[in-house]
Amino acid sequence: MRKFPIPENVFAQTVTAVKHYTDRVFHFRITRPASFRFRSGEFVMIGLPNAEKPVFRAYSVASPSWEEEMEFLSIKVQGGPLTEHLQKVTPGNTVLMRKKPTGTLVLDALLPGERLYLFSTGTGVAPFASLIRDPETYEKFEEVILVQTCREVAELIYITELVDGLKHDPLIGEQATSKLRLHTTTTREAFPRMGRITDLIRSGAFFCETGLPLFDPAQDRAMICGSMEMLKDSKTVLESFGLVEGANNAPATYVVERAFVG
Ligand code: A2P
Repeated sequence: MRKFPIPENVFAQTVTAVKHYTDRVFHFRITRPASFRFRSGEFVMIGLPNAEKPVFRAYSVASPSWEEEMEFLSIKVQGGPLTEHLQKVTPGNTVLMRKKPTGTLVLDALLPGERLYLFSTGTGVAPFASLIRDPETYEKFEEVILVQTCREVAELIYITELVDGLKHDPLIGEQATSKLRLHTTTTREAFPRMGRITDLIRSGAFFCETGLPLFDPAQDRAMICGSMEMLKDSKTVLESFGLVEGANNAPATYVVERAFVG
């Protein structure tokens, strides 16, 4: 690959690990700049040093803010300006990262509550992989319910393994064991729980299956991360229960962010 100079004002980090889950989804880790700070749930702009003016795309940080390395989940888009190349990275390669993290899927954008719902589809689970490893999440909420809907079973492996492993985590193992629940569903491959989460909530199947009560804006809070269509449908569902969208400067009962799509 031809070498290009690193643009000013970006971090150049080294890839430390890559794992491919399906022909559509992979995971990579990079070194973390010593000076870089972010809040769990935020995203950064990621690029490659493969052009004079590299293409950058938004990526939610999947790792917690206390971890030494940084972790991301990505889709692979045939002919996608970034992911076509990013999917080929291997340990030792350089990845670029812009210096300012941002985003609305942060605990500060929600009013205090009892129960936190984290709804995701596909790689939309990434910001929640960060939040469920943040001790503050368990200080603020009594119960945390993480939901991921994917097309295929293999796309659920990342979060299923992560949640399983958390039980033995010295920092948050105890809280994750008592407060965190994972609810996964598929839509295109046979699995014990099937259907889009939006449909399962509308039909009531979600509440029957989990034993959880109907959403109550007095105590339930939610974050949503997925495609534009998924966000639109999920907003309608949550608002039908009386939840109201919040932002960093105006905390309310739910917040949304579009997952990286191309
Ligand atoms: P489906 O298979 O019925 O389209 P994708 O990989 O295309 O991003 O989709 C990830 C998951 O999100 C799939 O299981 C897909 O279901 C589901 N999905 C797509 N659109 C919506 C929506 N509007 N509301 C809820 N889930 C959705």
